[in-house]
Amino acid sequence: MSWQPLGGWKPLGIGGPFNSLPVRLLNTIQSPADCYELALSLPDKCVDVVFGSPPYENARHYGGKAKKLKGQDWVDWMMKLWREFDRISRGIVGMVVEGRTVGRRYSATPHLLAADLHRAGYHLRKDYAYVRWGIPGSGGDDGHKNRWEPVIVTKPPGKLFWADNLAMGKPPKHKPGGACSHRTSSGKRVAKREYKAPAIANPGNIIECTVGGGHMGDYRAHDSEAPFHVRIAEFFVRSYCPPGGVIFDPFMGSGTVAEMAVMHGRNYLGCELQEEQAVLARERAKKAHDAYAALQPLPLLPVAS
Ligand SMILES: C[S@@+](CC[C@H](N)C(=O)[O-])C[C@H]1O[C@@H](n2cnc3c(N)ncnc32)[C@H](O)[C@@H]1O
Repeated sequence: MSWQPLGGWKPLGIGGPFNSLPVRLLNTIQSPADCYELALSLPDKCVDVVFGSPPYENARHYGGKAKKLKGQDWVDWMMKLWREFDRISRGIVGMVVEGRTVGRRYSATPHLLAADLHRAGYHLRKDYAYVRWGIPGSGGDDGHKNRWEPVIVTKPPGKLFWADNLAMGKPPKHKPGGACSHRTSSGKRVAKREYKAPAIANPGNIIECTVGGGHMGDYRAHDSEAPFHVRIAEFFVRSYCPPGGVIFDPFMGSGTVAEMAVMHGRNYLGCELQEEQAVLARERAKKAHDAYAALQPLPLLPVAS
């Protein structure tokens, strides 16, 4: 199979300039390590994407090791981390986050974080929705259960250096129909304009996953306190990290991002506070490497043990 660089992107080559990430860190999970300290030690623009999911506000404290912060304290902590994540990323920074509903009041911390990022001058994408089919919960006696979580995404100003926004797309489900096509800015309808459906439809910013009941993608995910679905990792890996590039997950947990990176011919860097999680993550990455490395268009560096 011949491989064409997408979108004009030229592979940098393994062990070559590779941005400026020290090669010894490629395809490793640093542990037990704090992601802020790790990020501080990294050069500017040394990875292609930063993507992961931090401890949510006032939720789990991950074996007593993670910070359990509330409200604006959580937002301020995230802002401090975001500055470093943005500095080291050539492309997007994306974090799956959620607030808490206590006493029937939602804390809105993802929105507060997005607002602070915007006010601080970051360029936000409208948040993506991570939709979970099969999530337990009732929503209480007067509400609806929480079926989606926001993914807050910032990016450098202007066009991204690389993106494949159709990577997760599928052929359109429905044929074009109806006599009218669209309205002009003056409100006039444009009739009978020929619309050509694309071969692959843009998947949009909603990522739907069936969770629970053994659907998370790898059984090791169930040994993490709060794993996300392989599909959300796959979405961001394939859409925003170029083939052969590097994705950094500062909160690696059970290794979902590492597995998807390897499976799709990307490299990763992970960081994890809890050693037992890092062990799981390395196992997952190694399994993916054994299964997929030979199929990749670019040689992948071996997974460090
Ligand atoms: C929400 S979980 C991530 C789960 C992961 N996405 C997965 O699919 O398995 C957050 C992880 O971040 C780790 N963590 C918390 N604070 C951290 C920090 N400051 N630096 C590095 N890791 C941290 C926790 O130990 C936990 O495993």
